[in-house]
Amino acid sequence: MRNISSKEYYNTTMSMLLLGLNLVTTVGIAQQKQTLKEAYNGKFVIGAAVNEAQFSGRDTLGAMLVATQFNSITPENALKWQSVHPKPNQYNFEAADRYVAFGEKNHMTIIGHTLVWHNQTPRWVFQDDSGKDVSKEKLLERMRDHITTVVGRYKGRIKGWDVVNEAIIDDGSFNQSKWLKIIGEEFIAKAFQFAHEADPQAELYYNDFSMENIPKRMGAIALIKKLKAQGITITGVGLQGHFQLDWPSIGQLDSTITEFAQLGVKVMITELDVDALPQPDWTATAEITKRFQYSEKMDPYKAGLPDSMQQVLANRYADLFAVFNKNKKHMSRVTFWGVTDRESWLNGFPIRGRTNYPLLFDRTGKPKRALEAVLKVAGNP
Ligand code: G3I
Repeated sequence: MRNISSKEYYNTTMSMLLLGLNLVTTVGIAQQKQTLKEAYNGKFVIGAAVNEAQFSGRDTLGAMLVATQFNSITPENALKWQSVHPKPNQYNFEAADRYVAFGEKNHMTIIGHTLVWHNQTPRWVFQDDSGKDVSKEKLLERMRDHITTVVGRYKGRIKGWDVVNEAIIDDGSFNQSKWLKIIGEEFIAKAFQFAHEADPQAELYYNDFSMENIPKRMGAIALIKKLKAQGITITGVGLQGHFQLDWPSIGQLDSTITEFAQLGVKVMITELDVDALPQPDWTATAEITKRFQYSEKMDPYKAGLPDSMQQVLANRYADLFAVFNKNKKHMSRVTFWGVTDRESWLNGFPIRGRTNYPLLFDRTGKPKRALEAVLKVAGNP
């Protein structure tokens, strides 16, 4: 018998492991009476944020879960400014093209995320050759070029865009980003206008987190009213939905959906997950500049989520979906920020290196009790 090299041994072991995982997952899914998208068919579409490994098919298990369970996708990072437009005259659409092709192959509602944000936008966007802030005119010209190129490329294929992301802070005022400082508040209306010009049929959204808290919600409502009064096309508002076990309250969430719906915009949950770990600071929900030191105490479920906590998470998901279900006439989509617990951004935020459990599929892709709970709620009228 020939000796196999350590590389061959590694590859064979990995293939067997993956086969095993796929099998376990397939059995788990086969036991599911309905998939998520089937369960909510006719109510709202069910989406997932996907990473490159999933939409390129490298992560076979992830790609399979996305294709079977979801009917909408959002790119976790592939369409952000730094990914598609890293240098002044350089666009890079390789990954984004594959993302859109994956969605089309699977007949999904394809979402674009995000056009104008202060994060994951290269520094050059705001600077001239000497490193000073560019003029308002120059920044508007760069914004128009970016939006026209990116939205134009996928015209008629990407159904809706998160046009402006996270422009408001907790107290309801505008984030003091370079966009605001250089252009002024008008940058928001301009971004929507450029996107509408690039694809008049595309749905256009304002997307933000923690709008369940009243001051921030008031800021967003004022913004949407103002945009509408100016005749700007804005189709919807994305409540990101980076939730915790005890925040927001069901009442807060319900009234948030109602108040936005009353403005005549579609409401969608765009980045849903439920943080199952202790919170160092409740205001940190998705503000990525907030980071905290690792400690064992803050990472209590390294070895697995205890049964009692699985149930707490399942109950929380059931309560959240009961609110979405109740408001289904106002809601067009519920998108999860990831597919399995393994690749969730919450393993690294707001403390690096923790083991978190925020989604409906476990690290091996197996359905969790939270999934059963969400499917059960779909049966309610
Ligand atoms: O691509 C680089 C890679 O080249 C490098 O080797 C590696 C080393 O750290 O970093 C990679 O970039 C990372 C990127 O994700 C792609 O994986 C960044 O460090 C990391 O910060 C970045 O995190 C993303 C985060 O947005 C950044 O703003 C998360 O994946 C993504 O889930 C998260 O998504 C945001 C939404 O867009 C907006 N709402 C909040 C949500 C959660 O923060």
